[in-house]
Amino acid sequence: MKLIICGKGGSGKSTITSLLAHEYARTNHNVLIVDTDESNGGLHRLLGTKVPKDLLHYFGGKQGIKEKMPSKKPDCATNQLFDWPLSIDTIPEEYISKNGSVSLVSIGKITHSGEGCACPMGMLSRQFLKSLTLEKNDVVIIDTEAGIEHFGRGIDAEADCVLMVVDPSFESVGLAHTITSMIKELDMPFYYVLNRVTPEISSKIRSSLENPENIIAEIPEDSKILTNGLMGTPITEAYPPILTLIKGIQQA
Ligand SMILES: Nc1ncnc2c1ncn2[C@@H]1O[C@H](COP(=O)(O)OP(=O)(O)O)[C@@H](O)[C@H]1O
Ligand SMILES: [Mg+2]
Repeated sequence: MKLIICGKGGSGKSTITSLLAHEYARTNHNVLIVDTDESNGGLHRLLGTKVPKDLLHYFGGKQGIKEKMPSKKPDCATNQLFDWPLSIDTIPEEYISKNGSVSLVSIGKITHSGEGCACPMGMLSRQFLKSLTLEKNDVVIIDTEAGIEHFGRGIDAEADCVLMVVDPSFESVGLAHTITSMIKELDMPFYYVLNRVTPEISSKIRSSLENPENIIAEIPEDSKILTNGLMGTPITEAYPPILTLIKGIQQA
């Protein structure tokens, strides 16, 4: 299964990605997190891994990717970059960091002002996900940058299922509407997880979402999550709302 996590900046995507990763690992899955966020660099802390070398460097940086896909309008939907059988086990060692059965691959980060657009990262993300073959027990979770750029790049089309994180803000609910209509174009399964909600706030969000039946879990404001997020430390023990979320994904 390839699960893509999307939503507004700060809604809790990376937090939920890491909570899911640790829970799947606890239940004997082999988990690969694909970090497609070009801006934020702290995901490895929540996962408890070292920082992997960006996959972009494997291909010689942005320039290297451009040279491998030279046409002006490259066909990103067709793999042109990976010429070896790609699976979790065949990713070159320097480019994958592990903590037990949780692994992290990072596509690439923006590091210099004026370095140019992030399109090569988008192409790489899409082709990586397209080429990646999975074993029965593998779970891939794709953590995205804020907003909808990844939809424009077609990264979501390579996933099996979309999980939208909705926090209690007008912007987040609005973005959930936009993303929902894009997913409907792709005709793929999608689910919502409400984050930082009380029962009262949750019912307000429910009444404003087009498909409230697709809400599969609710996560309250949690001081432990907040502290772990601040300190950059992983939460590895079972956390009931995440168990509900996984159950919802399984039943879907
Ligand atoms: N349920 C929650 N309770 C308390 N803090 C939370 C919760 N979910 C997320 N946070 C905190 O909110 C901040 C943003 O979360 P993050 O996962 O980085 O968002 P995103 O990846 O969507 O930008 C982090 O500091 C995180 O610890
Ligand atoms: Mg994030």
